[in-house]
Amino acid sequence: MGDNGYAAWLRYGQVKDETRLEQYAGWMGELVLPAGVPMEGILKTAAVELSRGIRSMLGAAPSVTHEPSRQRFIVLGVLGGGTWVDDAAGGVTALTNEGYLLKTVREAEKEYIIAAGKSEKAVLYAVFHLLRLMQSGAAIDQLNLVESPKYSLRMINHWDNMDGSVERGYSGRSIFYDNNNVLSDSERIRDYARLMASVGINGIAINNVNVHREETFLITEKLLPDVARIAEVFGEYGIKLFLSVNYAGTIEIGGLETADPLDPAVRGWWKEKAAEVYRYIPDFGGFLVKADSENRPGPFTYGRDHADGANMLAEALEPYGGLVLWRCFVYNCHQDWRDRSTDRARAAYDHFKPLDGRFKDNVILQIKNGPMDFQVREPVSPLFGAMEHTNQMMEFQIAQEYTGQQKDVCFLIPQWKEVLNFDTYVKGAGSTVKEIAAGSVHAYTHSGITAVSNIGNDENWTGHHLAQANLYGYGCLIWNPELSSEEIAAEWAVQTFGGNKDVQEVLVNFLLESWSIYENYTAPLGVGWMVTPHYHYGPDIDGYEYSKWGTYHFADHKGIGVDRTVATGTGYSSQYTLPNAEIYDSLEACPDELLLFFHHVPYTHRLKSGKTVIQHIYDTHFAGVERVEYWIGRWQELEGLVDGDRFRHVTGRMNRQLENAKQWRDIVNTYFFRKSGIPDARNRVIY
Ligand code: GCU
Repeated sequence: MGDNGYAAWLRYGQVKDETRLEQYAGWMGELVLPAGVPMEGILKTAAVELSRGIRSMLGAAPSVTHEPSRQRFIVLGVLGGGTWVDDAAGGVTALTNEGYLLKTVREAEKEYIIAAGKSEKAVLYAVFHLLRLMQSGAAIDQLNLVESPKYSLRMINHWDNMDGSVERGYSGRSIFYDNNNVLSDSERIRDYARLMASVGINGIAINNVNVHREETFLITEKLLPDVARIAEVFGEYGIKLFLSVNYAGTIEIGGLETADPLDPAVRGWWKEKAAEVYRYIPDFGGFLVKADSENRPGPFTYGRDHADGANMLAEALEPYGGLVLWRCFVYNCHQDWRDRSTDRARAAYDHFKPLDGRFKDNVILQIKNGPMDFQVREPVSPLFGAMEHTNQMMEFQIAQEYTGQQKDVCFLIPQWKEVLNFDTYVKGAGSTVKEIAAGSVHAYTHSGITAVSNIGNDENWTGHHLAQANLYGYGCLIWNPELSSEEIAAEWAVQTFGGNKDVQEVLVNFLLESWSIYENYTAPLGVGWMVTPHYHYGPDIDGYEYSKWGTYHFADHKGIGVDRTVATGTGYSSQYTLPNAEIYDSLEACPDELLLFFHHVPYTHRLKSGKTVIQHIYDTHFAGVERVEYWIGRWQELEGLVDGDRFRHVTGRMNRQLENAKQWRDIVNTYFFRKSGIPDARNRVIY
């Protein structure tokens, strides 16, 4: 059977297990929607989705009614509407507005499953959860689930340009634009909204943070009618639309000569723009802004700071409840190699920390998970949690810019979990990133998590079929960060590739190991940046070392690593709260995997693992390739158990991954052998 992967994890395949089929059919024959609730908007989406899933999985759609006529049925309801569903819900109060319950209720005369929440959106999430259970073959006759999302903002950022290209896109072109037009065929966009709602995403910014000429017009009457069409589709799935804006809009399209945030004409222009946007899109989410970053315009030009810039936009959006997501990816991108005191890692903290308390309540600072740029290994950004009086949200990257570009498998959930579980100590033990992002360490008015999308118009959305796991997993993780990577991988695999035990075993274990494999054959011990400049796939050890876009590892014949200690380095380590500051600053205490991020050491330095740095480099690079070979072998065992199309596609990508891994191994090993002059203790082939 052929399969292009378009359905992703919402496959709704016919249920084959007879017992399950009988059980599901018993409950799902009749869908009750209590009278008095208008069947429109998100509630309608929920009912349609449920019917679609049931028809596809069980062979017959449910009959839809207001009054139950069968003894067993399923009921969808918004709580607090005065319908009988309120009583049936049994006074569940511990729900947020987006939380839901899924409960099997047994009464004398009737038995039913209730899928309900305090909002229509919550009902939609309940429906997707129920469908997930059925797709995974779980029992549904004793449900008693109460679910609320940990984060209120659960977002995706697209880096899509209006010419149809996607910055750092590895899965085809944009689904939103082509040839400087907003695409009018909204079916693909609807399918995308469905996928995102199924994992709880409630906000999507649809254009690149680098806002070029055409995209600057997205907030004008020229393009707002088109944008509004997308917002409408999103709205049916409970998703708010956000736009990235050009900080210099007043100059580029506003006919003004300045973008000074304190200039009344500039402020007035933005107020007008906000009013216009909300006329077209009443539930518009807000503006995402990359300012004074990588040559983008910003308030620095006028001697103003980021608080001035962000507050100007916040003031314009405030009357409508809109948000400003202001990015903290601000650093000097032309660092000179002779200058050892400038440190890109320090930059976000140095720029923003002094501004704490100056931002308006509807501004959220959006901070990348690490201080550099989505490397395979980085410490957690010390800015996160360091501003008690300023809303913050975390930015991850689902797109695998530096982690294999969706040609190599790199399941990122374990990486994100490490970030979320990191204890910052900013308010004593337990000040973890996941609690800060939830607004429960500092009392933020808005907070949450966002991530750069990995989708495009490839049939299977993500280029590599297995990269769908990162998209699925991201949504699940930011709904409930307590889920384990294994649970998430297993849930994804069963829904996407079916319940065969061998298929499950290979997929789950390969995914779980893939980050460490990728780290092994690429840049060692947290040093990062040994990639081909600009393109970021494949090795070029000295690429950024000798580029004007300088980002350094300082490898020479004596040693390698960046000294970020207080005594002899850039002092970056001191941006952390104790004990982290001391741990990172100390050569002895610093964890091996981040050693070269914080310290410059000789190749003979002995790691906690007992190995020298140079031997670690050799061993991990050989091991990385061997593990790719191993998993190729394991995947081959699945021939005949996975549909032919996806089997061949994944095989092709894995072979490519192997070539990439070998290239990394050989180039990295040769480079360090020649630099250090120290041979491999195991005498393997190094060119
Ligand atoms: C990285 C990436 C850019 C992107 C930037 C950002 O540097 O390579 O393409 O624009 O991050 O996050 O703004």
